[in-house]
Amino acid sequence: MEKKYFIVTYGCQMNVHESEKLAGILRRRGYTAAACAEEADVVVFNTCCIRENAENHAYGNIGALKKLKRSRPGLLIAVGGCMTQQEGAAERLHKKLPFVDIVFGTHNLYKFGELLDKKAGQKKALLSVEEQGREPEEDIAFRTSYPNAWVNIMYGCNNFCTYCIVPYVRGRERSRDPEAVLAEVRGLLDEGYKEITLLGQNVNSYGTDRDVGMNFPQLLRRICEDGRKFRLRFMTSNPKDFGEELVRAVAECPQLCRLVHLPAQSGSDRILRLMNRKYTAEEYLKKVEMLRKYVPGCALTSDLMVGFPTETEEDFRRTLELVEAASFSAAFTFVYSRRSGTKAAAMDGQVPEEVCKERIMRLVEAVNAQTRRLSEGYAGKTVEILCEDRDEKRGLWMGRDEFGRMGYFADEADPVGQFVNVRVKDTSGISLFGERV
Ligand code: 5AD
Ligand code: SF4
Repeated sequence: MEKKYFIVTYGCQMNVHESEKLAGILRRRGYTAAACAEEADVVVFNTCCIRENAENHAYGNIGALKKLKRSRPGLLIAVGGCMTQQEGAAERLHKKLPFVDIVFGTHNLYKFGELLDKKAGQKKALLSVEEQGREPEEDIAFRTSYPNAWVNIMYGCNNFCTYCIVPYVRGRERSRDPEAVLAEVRGLLDEGYKEITLLGQNVNSYGTDRDVGMNFPQLLRRICEDGRKFRLRFMTSNPKDFGEELVRAVAECPQLCRLVHLPAQSGSDRILRLMNRKYTAEEYLKKVEMLRKYVPGCALTSDLMVGFPTETEEDFRRTLELVEAASFSAAFTFVYSRRSGTKAAAMDGQVPEEVCKERIMRLVEAVNAQTRRLSEGYAGKTVEILCEDRDEKRGLWMGRDEFGRMGYFADEADPVGQFVNVRVKDTSGISLFGERV
């Protein structure tokens, strides 16, 4: 009988893509995808630890498998990713959820196949988290996001923003060889992928950890030398390294989407300093102004945080002012979460939960109002949507425009993977509804 896997992914696109690599490893060993955990022989949780609720979520869902494991002891449960890579996390997890068979980290994901073999030869749980390792082969990924393909250009982060756990669980920056990236992208376009999203914790510092012969804007230009029609996206940029050369590439390369994700985090210079972000609100807004000068109509999205230690009402108001000035088409908003081992976790002045709750509500309202305002301007316009999937609930096809807005439309045939012109009739939040023209 054929063996089946089920992978549960938490967190960012980096994790989504790494789950594709885990799937690839399992498929090479003859496994195929199961529709749910109940039908699987191996269930893998690829976890995140950026905020406490991401960890609680994973713990809850892994814990929920206890019954299934009891009724079917042959079921193999593995937990890996950022959460387990934290110091002492594997042992903590084993203590709380002793029925988990394998615990692995971010640095030894490439060895997942070997870990399966090793576990088969022992009864007790296999706790295997390493401090160093290497990346899995890029071509092993079993992709499930057509027409978009994720492509890592670098791993890790050197910035040590004081709230952030990422540098501790992902290690220092490692840039991939540009020729390998170019070959991967070319291969994906040959296969028919229509959108390539380059991934890195801070793509702007591509090629600064070692000499790879080109910087990030040069890499983008090289990718765009391929004359075919496709969309090129990238994430994430740190504002401190975001500069004119990159903006010019966005302006000049037709495949590069006019959408930049530029996490501001806060609008208060005092808080930005405590966060070790290395820019002021004014510098951030100057870069936004430059972007809009070179790339008229460029969409801007951001990450914003409330409740960083010592944040006052005055600091928070600066964030609201920044939102007003930057005109984000969308932004992810977060309540600061204390991550053990980071510098901010040891800071005095942790902000009470009720205050955080009140601020996040005001922030979400400010961002949503902006998103709505910008969406309303879309009514009557024709946008080019790259169709990604069918929304069964709505009975409509869906996809995104260049600026990242979700567009919905009806069609008789299956247009997934096609660029479709849609005339917008109605808008709701960041979504557009229209008809194919
Ligand atoms: N608490 C809350 N939000 C965080 N982020 C990173 N670390 C934390 C934390 N400890 C947010 C930042 C980052 C995004 C990916 O997650 O806004 O840009
Ligand atoms: Fe975390 Fe800052 Fe690195 Fe982003 S740039 S991953 S927020 S440390």
